[in-house]
Amino acid sequence: MTAKIIEGKNISERVRKEWKQRATSLKQQGVLPGLAVIIVGDNPASKVYVRNKAKACQEVGLHSEIHEMPADTPESTLLQKIQALNEREDIHGILVQLPLPDHIDKDKVLETISVDKDVDGFHLYNVGALVVGNTVFPPCTPFGVQCLLEQMNIPIEGQNAVIVGRSNIVGKPMALMLLQKNATVSICNSKTRDLAQYTSMADILIVATGKPKMITGDMVKSGAAVIDVGINRMDDGRLVGDVDYESVSKVAGHITPVPGGVGPMTITMLVANTVIAAERTL
Ligand code: GUN
Repeated sequence: MTAKIIEGKNISERVRKEWKQRATSLKQQGVLPGLAVIIVGDNPASKVYVRNKAKACQEVGLHSEIHEMPADTPESTLLQKIQALNEREDIHGILVQLPLPDHIDKDKVLETISVDKDVDGFHLYNVGALVVGNTVFPPCTPFGVQCLLEQMNIPIEGQNAVIVGRSNIVGKPMALMLLQKNATVSICNSKTRDLAQYTSMADILIVATGKPKMITGDMVKSGAAVIDVGINRMDDGRLVGDVDYESVSKVAGHITPVPGGVGPMTITMLVANTVIAAERTL
């Protein structure tokens, strides 16, 4: 079997058009959706992500602004900045790019963002809402994966979904979202004994570990949908996922490429959450 490629880039362009229409309709009603992105320090990867997020907003006709703060910014200054953005009526979404410098308490920062503007979905209230299936803003990466599965007409209900990686940003919320859609969900982590026993049961296999090419073809069920959330830069400069594309694509039914799979969808869902936040102010 040769897997069907899940073209995240093309799907995301299609989905963005729908959000552009919703943004246009909002503008006709006098509301211009606005996103504020805060970046502290000069992590090069974070800078690229932030620029791409602002660019995507512009493409869809949203207002976006980037607030760059130096690495030695005191925590209190960052909290004041967030509070000021919470008060602004023209800003509907606030995102603080992670990671933050060590002297700043990440949880305190995330919990200072108004729940109504938490378009990343990282506030404790948003996380809790996910547990009871009453999402305020679904976190962008798992929201993007769910959207890819839906766009490819891959069934979720009753399927065995296995998630490798239990991070707060991807693995845990992804598990809750698939559970809500009536999948049978297993979450594996770096201490899981006999990982292949789990992965080979998966109808839907989602991998987010940050370990290049760790899932190989012999670990995957024939016909499975394999979603690779990883993006790793190799010594020769190539970008590879957490899935060994060459061997897995011979076994899987569907597979996401890296790059051009999940990545573009994450940004699209940030746009979506910002438009949703603005719609709620009407
Ligand atoms: N750093 C890596 N991924 C993300 C993300 O989705 N949101 C934020 N705010 N920071 C990140």
